[in-house]
Amino acid sequence: MSADKPIPTVEVAQPAAGGTTKDVPWYIPDEDLPEVDPTALDIFVKYSHIPQSMVQAHVLKNREEAWKIFPFPCIGQMRFLDFSLAKMPSYDKILARLCDPTSPARLLDVGCCFGQDLRKLVVDGVPSERLVGLELEPKFLDLGFELFADRESFKGQMIAGNLFDESPDSPVAALAGSIDIAHAASFFHLFNWDEQINAAVHLVNLMRNVPGALVLGRQLGSSTGEERPAPTISNSKSFFHSPESFRALWVVISERTKTNWEVNAWLETPATHSKRADKDRWISKGVQLLYFEIHQTHIAENTEK
Ligand SMILES: C[S@@+](CC[C@H](N)C(=O)[O-])C[C@H]1O[C@@H](n2cnc3c(N)ncnc32)[C@H](O)[C@@H]1O
Repeated sequence: MSADKPIPTVEVAQPAAGGTTKDVPWYIPDEDLPEVDPTALDIFVKYSHIPQSMVQAHVLKNREEAWKIFPFPCIGQMRFLDFSLAKMPSYDKILARLCDPTSPARLLDVGCCFGQDLRKLVVDGVPSERLVGLELEPKFLDLGFELFADRESFKGQMIAGNLFDESPDSPVAALAGSIDIAHAASFFHLFNWDEQINAAVHLVNLMRNVPGALVLGRQLGSSTGEERPAPTISNSKSFFHSPESFRALWVVISERTKTNWEVNAWLETPATHSKRADKDRWISKGVQLLYFEIHQTHIAENTEK
């Protein structure tokens, strides 16, 4: 499927001068983080074969390395152990699609960072060959293999690449039209309104043009739907969506891609990951999380595949 207008490229945010300081509202110091929860512990012990007594130190060491690469809130808040995909309403159906040997269904985790949701899918029975991670920063993919200790066993495709890359020989171009389910967690909120449209158009171009194609995930949101300073140490702006503004965004994306999408989006108040909830400067900013599941409903007439 193709968009009808040329798509401008997007500059990806870089940390501004000040670098990777921990003095930001979204960094929770090690000593204020609780022990990893039972879901994560189970994965580290049974999948990664890390002795239980070493799990907490292993996780903190990898978080420290990740923070040096780029100080994202998902790292500072330890939300990379939330396994957010598994909490989505469609998760059981996603598992059934990806485990069905008669279907070619593939899932892409865009901006996968450590790739934790891909590992959870494998633990829940999905053949890793069905899974693709796309990540701008190759060091995050490497750290994912360190964190989950599965460099040899994970057989999914882990692509170091830029979603916005339009060169025909890029590894991203090779994915065009091949993805059934795209997971975008803490990804769209890196961008402003126009950039989010641009990102989603590129993402839709990677999807198979079939009813039932599914884009889902979560990102920072707000009940009013507004542009705010980006949740990174950079000078960029992000659009924090309400369900209404997110639906309006996808009307534009549907028009641009000549595809039809039904948007289910809702806000939740994020739980704090800090033992000292009263000191969590991040939550007190009134930040919300927007969750979304977006299904392609039908194929419009005169569209290319
Ligand atoms: C905030 S993190 C979220 C990571 C993960 N999805 C999660 O939920 O924990 C966003 C990730 O998107 C990656 N990213 C940003 N721009 C990208 C692009 N243009 N193409 C691919 N990945 C990108 C970043 O490097 C980062 O690892």
